[in-house]
Amino acid sequence: MGYEVEYRRSITDPEGFWREAAEDIEWFDAPAEILGTDENGNHRWYRGGKLNTAYLALDRHCKLGRGDDVAVIYDSPVTDTKERFTFAEMRDRVARFAGALRGLGVDKGDRVVIYMPMVPETVVAMLACARIGAVHSVVFGGFSPHELAVRIDDAQPKALVTASCGIELDRVIPYKPIIDKALAQSAHPPGNVVVLQRPQAEAEMQSGRDHWWDDLMAGAEPVDPVPVDATDPLYILYTSGTTGKPKGVVRDNGGHAVAMNYSMRTVYDAHPGEVFWAASDVGWVVGHSYIVYAPLIRGCTTVVFEGKPVKTPDAGTFWRIIAEHDVRTFFTAPTAFRAIKKEDPEAKHLERYDISGLRNLFVAGERLDPPTYEWLHEHLHCPVIDHWWQTETGWPIVANPVGLERFPVKSGSATFPVPGYQMEIMGDDAQALPRGQSGNIAIRLPLPPGCLPTLWNDNARFRSSYMETYPGYYFTGDGGHIDEDGYVFIMGRVDDVINVAGHRLSTGGMEEVVGSHPAVAECAVVGMPDELKGQLPVGFVVLKDGADIEPAQLERELINSVREEVGAVAAFKRVLVVDRLPKTRSGKILRKTIRGLATQQEVPVPATIDDPAIMDEIRDALRERWGGPEGAS
Ligand code: COA
Ligand code: AMP
Repeated sequence: MGYEVEYRRSITDPEGFWREAAEDIEWFDAPAEILGTDENGNHRWYRGGKLNTAYLALDRHCKLGRGDDVAVIYDSPVTDTKERFTFAEMRDRVARFAGALRGLGVDKGDRVVIYMPMVPETVVAMLACARIGAVHSVVFGGFSPHELAVRIDDAQPKALVTASCGIELDRVIPYKPIIDKALAQSAHPPGNVVVLQRPQAEAEMQSGRDHWWDDLMAGAEPVDPVPVDATDPLYILYTSGTTGKPKGVVRDNGGHAVAMNYSMRTVYDAHPGEVFWAASDVGWVVGHSYIVYAPLIRGCTTVVFEGKPVKTPDAGTFWRIIAEHDVRTFFTAPTAFRAIKKEDPEAKHLERYDISGLRNLFVAGERLDPPTYEWLHEHLHCPVIDHWWQTETGWPIVANPVGLERFPVKSGSATFPVPGYQMEIMGDDAQALPRGQSGNIAIRLPLPPGCLPTLWNDNARFRSSYMETYPGYYFTGDGGHIDEDGYVFIMGRVDDVINVAGHRLSTGGMEEVVGSHPAVAECAVVGMPDELKGQLPVGFVVLKDGADIEPAQLERELINSVREEVGAVAAFKRVLVVDRLPKTRSGKILRKTIRGLATQQEVPVPATIDDPAIMDEIRDALRERWGGPEGAS
């Protein structure tokens, strides 16, 4: 069926459309209702349905005779390891680890925090939670003990699963001290910590609380998948909002499984038995959806890659993996290709590998900038597809839906809305704008299956962040426009969220750290363009009267504090001391104006600004330090 018919049906008859899509997965009990609302007035899909996501990812394929097919390829240039695990092997490991969790008292509905590197055991831990109906919350390894503690306190897990270390290029990062520090800071530390001992670092254990992964596995009884309700949570994934407190995006089981399966067929055109590789990290939504759940539910082989696009060992790693494992569909962030292009501008490494089996390359996480698109287009034979989505939706909102129909690419556009998503561009007066005009992007309710039904423990924030800006719509936090041909152009966040190397970060969280320095009177952290990482945070700082500190010293101290409190992943490396910040007459810092000054030359003077001359002061300070906004790259 072509895109137009499919899309229209998804909008005019969402219940019929998603009823049919639900028939493509196996239910223990079919849903009694396709779409309804819960006690909070939030839409819920497939109530009454019973299923198990880990069963769909593994057991079902074994039942269908594919137990000996490869489910997971682990390729780790940083440890020089390559391993393959069949669906049956993964099922057995998951069943056993599920038993181990049970043995620690983890039951249906209990939370388990996972702080792990890119190793197959991470996938095992996630699916083991799903198998017993426990709710995992994976925290990205680049986050600090403080950020981990914040997430632990919100989720209040029964257990935490970790490894003795992660490996960043050639650096071994011991994880256990991070865990111990986070648990010491936490008000709700879990009673059990499971540690995967890796040969690169020895973990120190606390008796009574800490358990070795291998010991637990050796003594555990495998458990069968537990039927859960379609609306039961599968996981919580914390993501950056506009304040320092992360948002716990909740994903349910039923809608998620249907959406994962549907997207693999229609957006990615990926078929059972093929190798699907998303080079991301399980700590991000891309990792949840397209390293773990979607490929396995669809019966594809997924690749768990522990390395970087460059330096592990060189800028040809991606091409090697695609050739060696016969990857059909590849997905990563544009920043990864900017890193490759910087090291290997002529794509010489590509000549060493045969990647002719690659059918499609998908990119997301940030806008696919035209120079990167042109470079890819020049060097790869396969289509390069930009697509747009968010942690909140869990799967693409706008894409070139090549499984349905392949459309010509327009550089800078992510193409068309995916079936299930009805978009409007909103103007300042909350009215939908005509084609061609830029505004805030909103999605008409109901959101399709798979999207967040609420925020963990905070439905009020769910409503205020997403549902109240434009009644009847979900507010995405992104701006953009739709052109006369219906192509959607995403221009980036309209709030205080930034994207650094495809990682979503809150400037509010960094401002909390910077603002707590004893010499700082006030501050604003905004994103500045960066050639490699897309954006990098920069702190604009006003000193307290009489503060006696050299700017260079202050910069060093602030960089260390943000690294310590938020994590290395924030890449906070720039501080600019200024005399004052642009403010409204009532004293509110005009962050949007500062954002504009940091990213472009022309910024409108806000009607509410106290003193327009400050804008020139900021421009001059930027120019003096970095030779203008782009000079910092
Ligand atoms: N554990 C511990 N530290 C981590 C970490 C982890 N899992 N991941 C990142 N870090 C650290 C890095 O070591 C680095 O520390 P440093 O400042 O001491 O060098 C810092 O966090 C920033 O890491 P990163 O953003 O990865 O930058 P980089 O300079 O090491 O690499 C890229 C740049 C572009 C190669 C890399 O960011 C990349 O491959 N990005 C792909 C994007 C991606 O996967 N996005 C997910 C959505 S698709
Ligand atoms: P995350 O929740 O980490 O997936 O980040 C989501 C945000 O990344 C979105 O709100 C966008 O700002 C940005 N983003 C993701 N994909 C794209 C894309 N294809 N084009 C532009 N921005 C994107």
